[in-house]
Amino acid sequence: HFDGHDEIWLFGYGSLIWKADFPFLERRPAHIQGWARRFWQGSHDHRGTPEAPGRVVTLVREPGATCHGMAYRITPEVLGPLDVREKNGYLREVIRLHFDDDARPPSAEGLVYLATEDNAAFLGEAPLEAIAEQIAMAHGPSGPNRDYLVNLAQALGELGVDDPHVFALAARLPARQDTRDPHPRPSSETTR
Ligand code: BEZ
Repeated sequence: HFDGHDEIWLFGYGSLIWKADFPFLERRPAHIQGWARRFWQGSHDHRGTPEAPGRVVTLVREPGATCHGMAYRITPEVLGPLDVREKNGYLREVIRLHFDDDARPPSAEGLVYLATEDNAAFLGEAPLEAIAEQIAMAHGPSGPNRDYLVNLAQALGELGVDDPHVFALAARLPARQDTRDPHPRPSSETTR
């Protein structure tokens, strides 16, 4: 058992907000203080490849900042599969969660996965335009990197959360390049 607890709060601030493909006992919107969500972690195994890594979110320390997300109450067994899924440089940290609903308790200790600059996949800060362009280009086994950004922005919007970094990036995504022409012209037209 985890430190003698048979239930753990896990704070999700990235894909865990919209994709909870693990069993949980309860889920509550929550925030943490002193941390900011940033697209500073490289992804060569989920949303990119070693040749063209994508970018996914991590948390960076920022005094006064608030990061909103979704907290899940889970049993410790759930952490094993998550540790495998969240490889690529993420570590677990213990943090204080502040719940955004009116249920009790109002706060709790929890776990969060975060990737620091010490991991090999960390990319760090870059101009928003460059980050948006990288996200628009990258694809990995979990799908297009742009879907990750769009899903995150949509999930935060549904939670009523303002996250300027995420929304600024979503607004800078270039239009999707369609590989299939929805209105192909007859070949006679194109050969003349
Ligand atoms: C998250 O949503 O909190 C998360 C997902 C994958 C890796 C790290 C964090």
